[in-house]
Amino acid sequence: MPNDSERHMMLVAFLQASNCSNYTGSWRHPETDPGFMDLEFYQNIAATLERGKFHLAFIDDRLAMPSRFGDSFEEAVENGIRVVKLDLVPVITAMGLATKHLGLGATYSTTYFSPFHVARLFSSLDHFTNGRVAWNVVTSLNDSEAQNFGVPKLLEHDDRYDVADEFMQATVELWDSWEDGAVVLNKQTGRFADPEKVHRVDHSGEWFQVRGPLTVPRSPQGHPVLVQAGQSERGREFAARWGELLFVIYPTPEACKAYRDDLRQRAQSAGRDPDSVRIAPAVYVVVGETEEDAQSKLEQIDNLANQTDSLALLSEVFNYDFSQHPVHEPLSDEILASMTGLRGFLDRVTELSGTANPSVNDFIQWSGRGTLRELPLFAGTAPQVADQMESWFRSEACDGFVLAATHMPGAYEDFVSQVVPELQSRGLFRKGYSEGTLRDNLGLPRP
Ligand SMILES: Cc1cc2nc3c(=O)[nH]c(=O)nc-3n(C[C@H](O)[C@H](O)[C@H](O)COP(=O)(O)O)c2cc1C
Repeated sequence: MPNDSERHMMLVAFLQASNCSNYTGSWRHPETDPGFMDLEFYQNIAATLERGKFHLAFIDDRLAMPSRFGDSFEEAVENGIRVVKLDLVPVITAMGLATKHLGLGATYSTTYFSPFHVARLFSSLDHFTNGRVAWNVVTSLNDSEAQNFGVPKLLEHDDRYDVADEFMQATVELWDSWEDGAVVLNKQTGRFADPEKVHRVDHSGEWFQVRGPLTVPRSPQGHPVLVQAGQSERGREFAARWGELLFVIYPTPEACKAYRDDLRQRAQSAGRDPDSVRIAPAVYVVVGETEEDAQSKLEQIDNLANQTDSLALLSEVFNYDFSQHPVHEPLSDEILASMTGLRGFLDRVTELSGTANPSVNDFIQWSGRGTLRELPLFAGTAPQVADQMESWFRSEACDGFVLAATHMPGAYEDFVSQVVPELQSRGLFRKGYSEGTLRDNLGLPRP
């Protein structure tokens, strides 16, 4: 690893192709651009991020509206709780057309798509963008998504990771089915490509059968950069095997550092260079010209949240209908065990609340879901925000940050115009892009 004075942080934008940012109440913010159905909305954000020399703009995904709460989508639609989710491929394609260097990440689920489909898609995108593409590998998390794909119930948590392991194996085999230099394209000899350098895959496993080869020649990055966010025991095992950029949610630098140390160790045990996994916690930033200015912006944003947002999003993420219980009633072990969504998030609630049987109120308070407290919040002037980022980064809690937006596109405009120059002047963040692919810019090896 480079010594501390040379270490630069990685900056990633945490985007949604949605009516709201990660902060659900954001759509009610007076400065929010309502153009979330327009190509220009996404292209403008991409241009801002590129101006700020961000490594990657990554877009999350969900394959259903939140509809676990009260077994209905009505509250979600009424309140605009992440009910719009555009398909990400046209979105990142549009963003790629508006930029030259910015990395572009899209989320795709290993539970509902097939390896051939995903391998072909990301390989094609990697060609079109000259090697700027990343795939956020997720296993999906609730029955509403399952039911949009003809499956009555979501698979159990650890089983989803078993499927995902095989999915990745098959996908990587497909990407490797064309060697570098296979395309000859010699019009004189009539030789298009060298069949010795193109291979069948013949993957036959428990979940997937695919013959191959892929119908796309090897892409500029070899494999698109792999993003992952596993935090549970099984999720970490998966992340250490496949993940390159690992996005996490931890409330303190100490907790994040413990994860980072663990993941680096696990990666090494799996025969990988620990520097080939980069850990970035998701955070919110509210920056103002003065401390008072930041504080009043923060209050304005805070006031946009409501309890229905929290309950709908908790039900979604835990795959459990939280409308069934009085809010003060401790939830039984059976109920907690039946929550098949994000296990890591449940650990957070039990740990922070100090009770093994949290109530609905504990879930609301300690998960912070639907509020700014869900993620660490760095608020203040640009130097104050930079101090907090510097402290996490220098203590080796992380390799960079995944910046969630309090509102769009203002949160990124403020960050780029105010915080980025401060980080640059401290030598913590780069001043320009390197030539080459997203992998080259991240210093990740080409497979
Ligand atoms: C920054 C970040 C972004 C995520 N984006 C998505 C997403 O777009 N879609 C999704 O289904 N899950 C998403 N997740 C959830 C993760 O895929 C993962 O399930 C979660 O971090 C919990 O880990 P576990 O499954 O090992 O318990 C995200 C998590 C984080 C920290």
